[in-house]
Amino acid sequence: MNHLIIYSHPNPKSFSHAIKETVAEVSLAKGHETAVRDLYALGFDPVLKGSDFVGFQSGNVPADIAQEQMHVAWADLMTFVYPVWWTGLPAMVKGYIDRVYSNGFAFSYGETGPIGLLKGKKAVIFNAMGTPNTYYEQSGMLPAMHKTSDMGIWQFCGIEVAHHAFLGGVPMADDATRKGMLDQVRQAMEKLLQ
Ligand SMILES: Cc1cc2nc3c(=O)[nH]c(=O)nc-3n(C[C@H](O)[C@H](O)[C@H](O)COP(=O)(O)O)c2cc1C
Repeated sequence: MNHLIIYSHPNPKSFSHAIKETVAEVSLAKGHETAVRDLYALGFDPVLKGSDFVGFQSGNVPADIAQEQMHVAWADLMTFVYPVWWTGLPAMVKGYIDRVYSNGFAFSYGETGPIGLLKGKKAVIFNAMGTPNTYYEQSGMLPAMHKTSDMGIWQFCGIEVAHHAFLGGVPMADDATRKGMLDQVRQAMEKLLQ
């Protein structure tokens, strides 16, 4: 299958970077066509502009958005790797979604409501986070983040969420714990990509 990995982190020594490497390694080893979009390395501009709306309406989509939409159109599976920042999407990822998953490309409005235009595609999401999972489970934050991401963004666009893992407690995790988390990522990807 065509597997698009969308990765966002400014630090190449981050745990998110290690997750992205693990995902790409499994994907290539399983023989899938694999493309990585590293948003910081690309210098992606995450700010949605007035001129973008003019472009969407006239069919003259700005070149940087058209490039990313081409990758999305190509993909059967999209794996997103980014950290949780302020209980949600880092600005880079939010802006990538604002600009690339646009009205007319990712969704439209029919007579009775929104219509997802990216049906048939699947998404996998790996989020590193500082807070241990148990804290966010108890406070209801984890279900809230699942809902705003999985339902609010991906299912809205018609995309099926095949797997969404929150990898918590990263700053406190020792090497063995980190390795265990990366093994979980590997196993999940091996199952999804078999
Ligand atoms: C700007 C910023 C905001 C953050 N907000 C949160 C947060 O809301 N919840 C949380 O659990 N961790 C938060 N963190 C911690 C990161 O999620 C955590 O350090 C990171 O996931 C560890 O993985 P990394 O090495 O890939 O950055 C934040 C970190 C930064 C830099």
